[in-house]
Amino acid sequence: MQIQYPKSLVDQVQAVTKQNRLEGFVPGEGVAHPRVMLVGEAPGQTEIETGHPFVGASGKELTKMLALAGLTREEVYITSVVRSRPFAIRQVVDKKTGQPIEKRPNRTPTKREVAAFAPLFDWELAAVDPEVIVPLGNTALQRLLGKTALIGDLHGQVLRQPVLTMVDGKYCPGNKTYVVIPMYHPAAYLYARRLEPTVQEDWREFGQWLNRNSKES
Ligand code: URA
Repeated sequence: MQIQYPKSLVDQVQAVTKQNRLEGFVPGEGVAHPRVMLVGEAPGQTEIETGHPFVGASGKELTKMLALAGLTREEVYITSVVRSRPFAIRQVVDKKTGQPIEKRPNRTPTKREVAAFAPLFDWELAAVDPEVIVPLGNTALQRLLGKTALIGDLHGQVLRQPVLTMVDGKYCPGNKTYVVIPMYHPAAYLYARRLEPTVQEDWREFGQWLNRNSKES
């Protein structure tokens, strides 16, 4: 299920970011009120082409990690803190033709871009109302817990705390306490394979935590 955001919020975000190098709009998707809400950074090229979150190289890795925790994509909710693809512009020389061409690679969203999408994300979190939030990587983690939170320190830990919400242009702790379990972003270990055993262990332990804390048990 793709979420239907209020049009006024989408229009507000698009008005604020219209000068930025951002393209497309990929809604979050999955079940409402899931046990687990995964929060990424921003969609990449494949996500913009297909209109679905986490379907490119990172998405394939994410599906494998979910399986280590005993989860499938069908039973979680997947979104990102930014809903459009941030791109850079690079002038390069085409190796075959020798002609100058323009490339538009993905880039990390800026803090301003994350803040511009914050009202949309706050609305989405309240609407989805998950039992556990899993921020994937530092961009999502810092959007939720503030800039001193680091994935290298907090990955795999079970945190219980309010998450930041945007009020009058400033981040403030919200009223509700969430369970937050930070994980490395799949792209991080695609580029640093030495992290893979740690990441696998984190997801296996997360699966055990989910079993121990299941409402039926
Ligand atoms: N990375 C993200 O953070 N989100 C996506 O949807 C794809 C890659």
